[in-house]
Amino acid sequence: MANFPAFGFLILSLLGSIYGSAIEPRACGGSLYVGDEAVIEAPFQENCKWQIQTDEKHVLAFSLVHGGNFEEVLEFFSIHDGIDATELKNQIHHEVGLTSGESITTFYTTSAEAEVRFKKMPTSTLKLKIQKAVYCPFNLGSESQCGRIIDETSCYCATFTKRGQGNHTTYCTENEMKLLSIEDLPEENRIYDAWGTLVNFWTSGTHNKTTGIWTWSSTMTNFYPGFANWAPFEPNNTLVDGNCLTIKSGWFDDPCANLYDAVCESHPEDFVTSTTEAIVSTTTEYATTIAF
Ligand SMILES: *[C@@H]1O[C@H](CO)[C@@H](O)[C@H](O)[C@H]1NC(C)=O
Ligand SMILES: *[C@@H]1O[C@H](CO)[C@@H](O)[C@H](O)[C@H]1NC(C)=O
Ligand SMILES: *[C@@H]1O[C@H](CO)[C@@H](O)[C@H](O)[C@H]1NC(C)=O
Repeated sequence: MANFPAFGFLILSLLGSIYGSAIEPRACGGSLYVGDEAVIEAPFQENCKWQIQTDEKHVLAFSLVHGGNFEEVLEFFSIHDGIDATELKNQIHHEVGLTSGESITTFYTTSAEAEVRFKKMPTSTLKLKIQKAVYCPFNLGSESQCGRIIDETSCYCATFTKRGQGNHTTYCTENEMKLLSIEDLPEENRIYDAWGTLVNFWTSGTHNKTTGIWTWSSTMTNFYPGFANWAPFEPNNTLVDGNCLTIKSGWFDDPCANLYDAVCESHPEDFVTSTTEAIVSTTTEYATTIAF
């Protein structure tokens, strides 16, 4: 007769699919594929592990749903960069952007995989928001600076080497980014907050002399209908040679060959992704008595 243990573990695997930022059941871990954003809640048990993955070429951003300081809750769980890899402790502190300052509100991995280990059961609700983000380095080499200046998932880099607009387009592309396109005033103002209004920055805005249409060449979208922030009496060069858009506390049309600084940007949706939904597979372990 086989030697059955008095206590067995019934492993129940639940495979399902959730969309967007749905809240997970308080399972004792499992695996989670983050397409865009997902939320997990601390389990009712101790020693539970979540293995988390997102699309390749992306990283994972962890923050608390109810805000607050990460350091205070790290006694309940730890986040590991990559599966079975080192604990995330040393965070990149950009000199510009959201993660500057003393309290850490978002943790980033360096790869598309992470493991969250819940050690202790927290006494109050603890929900962890996980977002797919782009990697954001400190800089792109000399004379440049990067930061998460707009939101938690994108990255902006200023380059302080003066180039024509065309060469800046190439520079951004070579760094897997795009020359700036401006969507709204908050985005433009955050660029000024980060890098000032003393020098001109090239954007991807270009004017077609034949059609008279202004287009963001990085995103292939026309300015109109949409946001515009021309400085007084601008554009005033379009009939001469002002066929590219530069910003300096407002928009100016200038000759594309003028040598200015520039801003490159990168967003999670810029990279081809395999899925936009979160796929979750949870594991719940029940201690059950098996009678023989
Ligand atoms: C790029 O830079 C090179 C050398 O600095 C220059 O000869 C060329 O005209 C520039 N091209 C554009 C499109 O600005
Ligand atoms: C301007 O638009 C015309 C008509 O759509 C197009 O043929 C031409 O290539 C455009 N010029 C540039 C510089 O993009
Ligand atoms: C356009 O206006 C700017 C100031 O807004 C000025 O420096 C520039 O000389 C003007 N260009 C032309 C062609 O009038």
